[in-house]
Amino acid sequence: MWYETAITRLFGIPYPLIQAPMAGGPTTPELVAAVSNEGGLGFLGAGYMSPEAIRAAVRRIRELTDRPFGVNLFMPEKHLPVDWDGVNRMKDYLKTLHPFGKEIAEELNDLSFETNLEDAFAAQMTVVLEERVPVFSFTFGCPTREEVSAWKARGIRVIGTATTVAEAVRLEEAGVDAVVAQGYEAGGHRGTFLGFDASALIGTIALVPQIVDKVGVPVIAAGGIMDGRGIVAALALGASAVQMGTAFLASRESGAHPSYKKAVLHSRDTSTVITAAFSGKPARGIQNAFISLIHEYDAPIPPYPIQNALTRPMRNWAARQSDPEFMSLWSGQASALSREAGAGEIVRRLIQETEQMLSILNR
Ligand SMILES: Cc1cc2nc3c(=O)[nH]c(=O)nc-3n(C[C@H](O)[C@H](O)[C@H](O)COP(=O)(O)O)c2cc1C
Repeated sequence: MWYETAITRLFGIPYPLIQAPMAGGPTTPELVAAVSNEGGLGFLGAGYMSPEAIRAAVRRIRELTDRPFGVNLFMPEKHLPVDWDGVNRMKDYLKTLHPFGKEIAEELNDLSFETNLEDAFAAQMTVVLEERVPVFSFTFGCPTREEVSAWKARGIRVIGTATTVAEAVRLEEAGVDAVVAQGYEAGGHRGTFLGFDASALIGTIALVPQIVDKVGVPVIAAGGIMDGRGIVAALALGASAVQMGTAFLASRESGAHPSYKKAVLHSRDTSTVITAAFSGKPARGIQNAFISLIHEYDAPIPPYPIQNALTRPMRNWAARQSDPEFMSLWSGQASALSREAGAGEIVRRLIQETEQMLSILNR
């Protein structure tokens, strides 16, 4: 059957449908559990969460489901030298923005940020290991062979994220159980870790078969997959599962802000762009006022995670005001195909559509 793949065997799940981890709020324990309960694999995006919050969320997921689920973290950047002049220039710029610049000025003045992400990651990872999370995935980097084998020795399945063939090969060499092939269409941050430039923006339909041909581990297709048509296409390209983020953003259980859900549901094929404006790292989201305004900024945008910390007061203001023009509205190129429904209902429809599509092709 179409749903019996290397990934369903590896993770012990009925269907090769993974709900993408989405850090920053969308992937609530309720969303993760609803997807796992319908036979997919729900994933908690825990990149921005404290160790205590991760532990509480994992325990809540376990109250809601006894099925496998995953937790995702960001591989840490090496200790960053901070260009304080650049930071102050960006702070001054953000304070000039209307209508909130003056309101967030004090918060910006007092802002401190973590530049030693390695310690923060180690503390998050300790919780993942202690809680014996069934599946762990990461993005933004590649751990060492020793790290991966220590995680696997605890019985945890490990997935890495690649945006090029070279990254997929590097991840396989590090010993991961499976690789996510993240195409250009994908919503959210690019997982690219071997040098970001325009040549690393490869569409899902081009990327998946090239990675499938070059690695021995199962490949999970991600980027622009929204319904049964996309699932069948990904499986035909050799993927052993799909990972879908935007498809669950507007679901009932998603923790995305109501204005964000509305923007996704009203989006079109041309709505999204890749921008480093919000976080200092390229990510795909719906074009809004802040992305347009930052073009007038005449100095380099500070790198991730510094810019992410600098725009947080603005984004918090936008959330309080329900103003989508100054929120990060991460979503993929096929966001217009989003559905407003319960997450379990979305999974059931995806399975039905896949079966219907296969029966049409088999005619
Ligand atoms: C709002 C949002 C947040 C995301 N956050 C993460 C994350 O924390 N970790 C991660 O590995 N991928 C993250 N992604 C990327 C997804 O894993 C996946 O590559 C993407 O959703 C696939 O494209 P699609 O959105 O078109 O389905 C995020 C995507 C979105 C839309």
